Amino acid sequence: MPQNKQILLVSRPTDEALVSNFKLISSETPALQDGQVLVRHHFLSLDPYMRGRMNDAKSYAAPQALGQTMGGGTVGEVVESKNTQFAIGDKVVGMGGWQEYSVVDADQPGALRKVDTTHIPLSAYLGAVGMPGVTAWYGLVKIIEPKAGETMVVSAATGAVGSAFAALSKARGCRTVGIAGGPAKCKYALEELGFDVCIDYKVHSDATSLSKALKDACPNGIDGYFENVGGMVLDAVLTRMNAFGCIAVCGMIAGYNGAPMPLTYPALILMNRLKVQGFIVSEHMEIWPEALQELGKLVATGRLRARESIAQGIESAPEAFLGLLKGKNFGKQLVKLS
Ligand SMILES: NC(=O)c1ccc[n+]([C@@H]2O[C@H](COP(=O)([O-])OP(=O)(O)OC[C@H]3O[C@@H](n4cnc5c(N)ncnc54)[C@H](OP(=O)(O)O)[C@@H]3O)[C@@H](O)[C@H]2O)c1
Repeated sequence: MPQNKQILLVSRPTDEALVSNFKLISSETPALQDGQVLVRHHFLSLDPYMRGRMNDAKSYAAPQALGQTMGGGTVGEVVESKNTQFAIGDKVVGMGGWQEYSVVDADQPGALRKVDTTHIPLSAYLGAVGMPGVTAWYGLVKIIEPKAGETMVVSAATGAVGSAFAALSKARGCRTVGIAGGPAKCKYALEELGFDVCIDYKVHSDATSLSKALKDACPNGIDGYFENVGGMVLDAVLTRMNAFGCIAVCGMIAGYNGAPMPLTYPALILMNRLKVQGFIVSEHMEIWPEALQELGKLVATGRLRARESIAQGIESAPEAFLGLLKGKNFGKQLVKLS
């Protein structure tokens, strides 16, 4: 059986996550039992939620256990099979974790899904046609419920979720405004992702300044906001929300390393009669098929061309992950494993 390099979580961060929280080991993959398959991972997905799993804190999901392989989404290829539903060569999506191979009990519901790579690249099943894309779809379609002509705003606009949000929002006839960090990301948002406007939040030192930029970008106010960041960005957006607008709270990455994020004007939620709703995409599995169908069409027809940041080799995963938490990624952050 092949040697398998794996990254374990060996300690928990006190504030900022560090490379020393992780450890690389190598072990032989175990022999397969009946019903199992051996998957060779081509790509590992790195996602902001993994930072929360590193803490031993109350959350919607159990913490990542110490001394165990870090969990995470993977795409790859079946290289050995003792399961009649999976053949060698099948391309599959699963939760293989931060390692080069995984042994999967493929009869477990949801453990492994075969995918078609004829029109959609394998890596896209971890991004635009995977969990991040469905996240954008759920927040926009099921929580914000946009109408054509309304104004939608999304933060972390050029990331895996934000880029899918842009395509979905434009497809519904909405004015779509992104907020992203730096001129290169904003240029890409306009030229490749189809945003009507992209605001570089890094040129604004405070919420008042960002609020002025939002006023110019959203002359009719903001009807729907897809929140990925929190902090100063949320403060600024709140000042421009229309009455009866909606905020889908998807993530608050600015606080994932422990920084406090006080809300400056919470009374605006009352004054503008806003609907503010958080959600976790994995709690809404019933909508995945419909969402994946739309996202798959957008990717296959070139209307969603999401960029990927690809780190090479499992050894690079911790650095790439810490970079994601600081905005060093440009689009969906992946690790290429074979
Ligand atoms: N609720 C759910 O079920 C669910 C599911 C998936 C994802 N999420 C959330 O969705 C958000 C986006 O996820 P993603 O996978 O698409 O990640 P991503 O946008 O590809 O990468 C994270 C981006 O966040 C931005 N960022 C990082 N630190 C920041 C800070 N201090 N202030 C402002 N922006 C910062 C950076 O973009 P800039 O360079 O533009 O700042 C960075 O590139 C995250 O908050 C994530 O936790 C939630």
